[in-house]
Amino acid sequence: MSEQSEGAARPLSLRAEGPLSGNVKVPGDKSISHRSLMLGALAVGRTTVSGLLEGEDVRATAAALQAMGALVAQKDDIWTVDGVGVGGLLEPESVLDLGNSGTSARLFMGLLASHPLTATFIGDGSLQKRPMGRVVEPLTRIGARFVSREGRLPLTMTGTEQPLPIDYTLPVASAQVKSAVLLAGLNTPGDMIVREPTVTRDHSERMLEAFGAKLSIRQTGEGKQICLHGQANLLPMNIIVPGDISSAAFPLVAALIVPGSEIEVTGVGLNPTRTGLIDALRLLGAKIDIREGKPAGSEPVGDIGVRAGPLVGTSIPAVLAPLMIDEYPILMVAAAFAEGETEMRGLEELRVKESDRLAVMAEGLAACGVPVRLLSDGIVITGSGGAPVVGGATVASHLDHRIAMSFAILGLNAARPIIVDDARPVDTSFPGFVELLCTLGASQQES
Ligand code: S3P
Repeated sequence: MSEQSEGAARPLSLRAEGPLSGNVKVPGDKSISHRSLMLGALAVGRTTVSGLLEGEDVRATAAALQAMGALVAQKDDIWTVDGVGVGGLLEPESVLDLGNSGTSARLFMGLLASHPLTATFIGDGSLQKRPMGRVVEPLTRIGARFVSREGRLPLTMTGTEQPLPIDYTLPVASAQVKSAVLLAGLNTPGDMIVREPTVTRDHSERMLEAFGAKLSIRQTGEGKQICLHGQANLLPMNIIVPGDISSAAFPLVAALIVPGSEIEVTGVGLNPTRTGLIDALRLLGAKIDIREGKPAGSEPVGDIGVRAGPLVGTSIPAVLAPLMIDEYPILMVAAAFAEGETEMRGLEELRVKESDRLAVMAEGLAACGVPVRLLSDGIVITGSGGAPVVGGATVASHLDHRIAMSFAILGLNAARPIIVDDARPVDTSFPGFVELLCTLGASQQES
C-alpha cells in the first residue's frame, strides 16, 4: 500500500438487487504464491508458476527476490523464476519495500537469516505496526542480528555465515514463524526442528518436499514435529497455484446472505489446514457442496457450491481459529445474518493482522446496526435472522484488504448503503474483486 497511500482514497459500496448466481474462479492462493517465488529463487534452474496471485503482496515478494539476484519474469499468465541456488542470494543494494505484506517480511527474514548479508525491510503503515519479535527471537538463536524499533519495521537484519540449527517450539500458532525457521534451515548445516503444538497451514512443508528438501514430519503427543535437514539442494518445478480459499470466502458468504442466491467457485485450494471456514459455515447451517477435483501438485483442489438459506447462531470452536484465521472478518458478516447469537473465541491473533481485526470488525458491525459484544479474545454477534442489516455507515478499511471486502459484502444485504472508505487495499490479495461480484449480479453503488 505504500504507493497507494500517496493517491486518493477509493470508496466502495456494493449492492445486490436480486439473487447472485454463476460460476466463478478466484485469484491464486496468496500463501502458495509467495512460497512458489521464494523457493523457485532458491532452486538451481527455472521454475514456472501458473495461476500466481498477481496482487501487490506477491509483487512485493517478486521485487525483493529480483533485488537479491533471482530473475523473476512474467509472460502472459506464466511466471518464471531463475533461481540462484540455496545460499546464493545477493545483498540487496536498496531497502526492501514489502508494502502491506507480513508474509513477505517474516518469510524473508527467515530466508536471509542464514545468508551472510544485510537487508533493511520497510513497509506501509499497517506492516509497520505488526510484531516481528516472533521471528526475530528464533532467528537470533540461529545467529542472525536485528536492529529495529521495538521489533517492528523499519528493521535491518544481518544474516550469519555460520547458522546454528535450533529445536524450536512455536509459542504462537503461526505458519509464518514456522516457515521463517524452516527457510533459515535450508542454508543451515544439520537438523532444523520446528515443533507445532497447534496445526497451522502446511504449504511450506508440502512445497519444500516437492522442491526436494529433506524433510521428516512426525506426529507426537505434543503435536507435529518438522525436521529439515540442511543444507538443501532444491530442484526447479512447474507449479500450479490453486484459487485462494481466503478469497473464495467473500463470494461464498455473499451468496449465503443474499436471498435466493446460488453460486459455485471452482478450482479452489482445499488444503485441510485452510478449510476451517467451510466447517464454521456448516455449523451456522450453510448449505455447501464440495466436489474434489484434480490436485495441483501436493495441494488438494475442488469446487465449492453454496445456496442462500437460513443461518442459525452457534458457538464457533476455538480449535478452528488457526485453520481459518484470515476468514474471521467474513465469517462475522455471515453471523450478522444468523438467527440469534454467534460466539467466536480464541481470536487473540486477529489483533495483530493487517489491522486489529477484532476491534475493527466490532466497531464497523456496530456502526452498521449489527449488535456485537467485543470480548478480549473474541466476539459475540447477534444476527438479523436473514433480514437486511441497518447499514447507512461509512466504514474505515484501515489499510486492511479483508476488512474492506468484508464490509463491501455486508452492504449486499443492508437497508441503507454501506460505504467502505478506501477499497485500494483489496488489490493486495484480490485484484478483480469488484468485477467478480458484478459478474455474479452485484452492482457498484455511486457513493
Ligand atoms: C500466512 C499465515 C497466516 C495468515 C497470513 C498468511 C502464511 O499468518 O494470516 O495471511 O502465508 O504463512 P500467521 O502465520 O501470522 O498466522
